[in-house]
Amino acid sequence: MQTEAPDELFSAHLRELAARTGEALDATGHEAVVFHSGGLRLVDFDDYPYPFKAHAAFRLWAPITDTPDCFVAFQPGRRPRLLFNRPEDYWHKVAALPGGAWAREFEIEPVADLAAARAALAPGGRTAFIGDATGFGDWGFAAVNPPALLTRLDYARARKSPYEIACLREANRLGARAHVAAARAFAAGDSEYGIASAYMAAIAVREQELPYNPIVALNEGGSVLHYQVLERVAPADHRSLLIDAGASFAGYPSDITRTYAFSDPEFALLVGRMDEVQQALCAGVRAGVDWRDLHLTAHRLIAELLHDCGLITVDAEEAVETGLSAIFLPHGLGHLLGLQVHDVGGTLASPQGGTIPRPAGHPNLRLTRVLDEGFVVTMEPGLYFIDSLLASARAGSHGRHIDWERVAQFAPFGGIRIEDNLAVTATGCENLTREAFRTLS
Ligand code: GLY
Ligand code: MN
Ligand code: MN
Repeated sequence: MQTEAPDELFSAHLRELAARTGEALDATGHEAVVFHSGGLRLVDFDDYPYPFKAHAAFRLWAPITDTPDCFVAFQPGRRPRLLFNRPEDYWHKVAALPGGAWAREFEIEPVADLAAARAALAPGGRTAFIGDATGFGDWGFAAVNPPALLTRLDYARARKSPYEIACLREANRLGARAHVAAARAFAAGDSEYGIASAYMAAIAVREQELPYNPIVALNEGGSVLHYQVLERVAPADHRSLLIDAGASFAGYPSDITRTYAFSDPEFALLVGRMDEVQQALCAGVRAGVDWRDLHLTAHRLIAELLHDCGLITVDAEEAVETGLSAIFLPHGLGHLLGLQVHDVGGTLASPQGGTIPRPAGHPNLRLTRVLDEGFVVTMEPGLYFIDSLLASARAGSHGRHIDWERVAQFAPFGGIRIEDNLAVTATGCENLTREAFRTLS
């Protein structure tokens, strides 16, 4: 897997990051801040670790994804320091000191263990610590994860630098390449495990290197929103595949979903109609748009589709108003995408905090902010046949507005989700995902 960051954009990224972090420190009464990459967590009573995921606030500074117990120390006006963990360890391969252009932006100091890091950092004064707090309470930091500082930094993370967008673009290229291989495995009749393996082999990654465990759902599995099983045996019948899987580049993820019909023409038509809905929604993305409005527009478009396909018997407006559309689309339209797949700050009202409320009846929406240039979001409308939600609907007032024969016809296909990653511009957006698929073909 490639992990080299686009060096030429990194300096500008770091300068901007230093400026905004300096302002946040000033505003919250701190003079410096230390970011920790995180520690290894060992399985109880044994000495092998859970997969390591470096802390996002640390990765914003340094594209180091695989080395625990590193620190970035930043004080405005000084060159940032990178304390790089180089233990004496003959059980594991010790990582080499980072090289390359990005690393030259830092004062790099190897440290052999946490005691050496503590001595080198000598925390005191008004220095804040940000990271997994475990074990840092008595190091002498003025504050550990102070909420006012975190909120300011989280709020600013929504707007990505050109460096970050370049990384997200690369993550989409990797993801698209893997998705094409997965689609081929599905067409060949492979199992969920076989399809996931083809996905990972195409970009030479192991599962723990993916930004999240891939969702590879055949047939009814597509109705489980975060389906986590990888069946080893192919089903007797291939009807549909819903695959939600990403890839990482320099710590930045893609988050891509595609749904395929195996051979059924009616389901293929429904997937095609959902693709049109998704593209119409993408066309509405630009700076200044309130994401909540777009989410409600998605519900209207999907309700129209449900009506056109004979799945519901009331018009779109009534279906959205009464919550009927939410039976078929119970998740949000999308979320901020960044160092975390579900990136931070999606509902923050301002750098000082506060929450922008979700529309009534839409508790799962993760993004309620007005879009700005540099935001990167996912656009992921869905339409599902979820047993438990349909059963409650049938028992309640929605029951008579649903055509149950039509539902029974589509339920064996599970559901549909189509998800792209969009970088917002002043006048529209760059669809990182479609562009990645386009340049492959
Ligand atoms: N892959 C999880 C999501 O789409 O939000
Ligand atoms: Mn996804
Ligand atoms: Mn997503």
